[in-house]
Amino acid sequence: MTAASRADRYAVMGNPIKHSKSPLIHRLFAEQTGQDIVYGAILVNPDGFAEAVSDFIDTAGRGLNITVPFKQEAWQIADQLSDRAQRAGAVNTLSIGADGKLSGDNTDGIGLVRDLTRNLGLTLSGKQILVLGAGGAVRGILAPLLEQNPSRLLIANRTVERAQQLAAEFSDIGDLQGCGFDGLNGTRFDIIINATAAGLQGQVPDLPDEIIDPGSCCYDLMYASEPTDFVRHAMQRGVQASFDGLGMLVEQAAESFRIWRGIAPDTAPVIAALRQL
Ligand code: ATR
Repeated sequence: MTAASRADRYAVMGNPIKHSKSPLIHRLFAEQTGQDIVYGAILVNPDGFAEAVSDFIDTAGRGLNITVPFKQEAWQIADQLSDRAQRAGAVNTLSIGADGKLSGDNTDGIGLVRDLTRNLGLTLSGKQILVLGAGGAVRGILAPLLEQNPSRLLIANRTVERAQQLAAEFSDIGDLQGCGFDGLNGTRFDIIINATAAGLQGQVPDLPDEIIDPGSCCYDLMYASEPTDFVRHAMQRGVQASFDGLGMLVEQAAESFRIWRGIAPDTAPVIAALRQL
């Protein structure tokens, strides 16, 4: 048996998957911590997710990261869910037990909070936080953000009803409201988090001008080798503290790695390495 065939197998599944940074991130984590794993990337047909997972289990796979568009389906097929995954309605981390049973978790929200607090040195407690968007990405980050005790958490979305519905759904774990972009007039926020998909169309959310205040911190869940549209937009409005989602990407991966391997990698050198690409 070769060393590679003895190593525990992991992979990320999604569609598209070619540009995923997860294999590189987990390879760097494994090298750093001396863990013997292999981590691949699997392109899955839109209607072939459950079968792909089952095939992976059959070949003694130990864990999967799940990305767009399969996070909700992963939530459905998981045999058990962590509380935060249950809340999020989406799973980005599947652990495969010795019996082939699937445990689902969602590490996106903790990844965001760790990037904001540990890497960027921000305090969320007592702060006014604005979250833009009301889709799956927002669903994953609300509970971990609320746990940090912000003084205010407001969800603003292009379609106001979705923001209100999400706010109502999470109101049992914290105080939060939902509104449309035009409901933001005259308000100032300490931290503005862009969790919309606007950047995928080369757009930024159509916010009232004064919302992006030079003293605010702006954070885009998206990441690209160039500054994202939202990061650039914030910088053009004089914001010094404007960050993309690379740190969150590495932090959510680190939490997956910790769940699977029981060891928390040091994320700083991995973020630095990815920044150089
Ligand atoms: P995801 O899982 O990435 O959150 P999603 O569930 O499709 O994807 O949600 C996309 C989010 O981006 C929604 O909040 C959407 O707003 P609507 O609910 O009004 O559709 C938001 N979005 C997409 N394109 C946008 C744009 N050009 N401007 C502002 N918001 C946009």
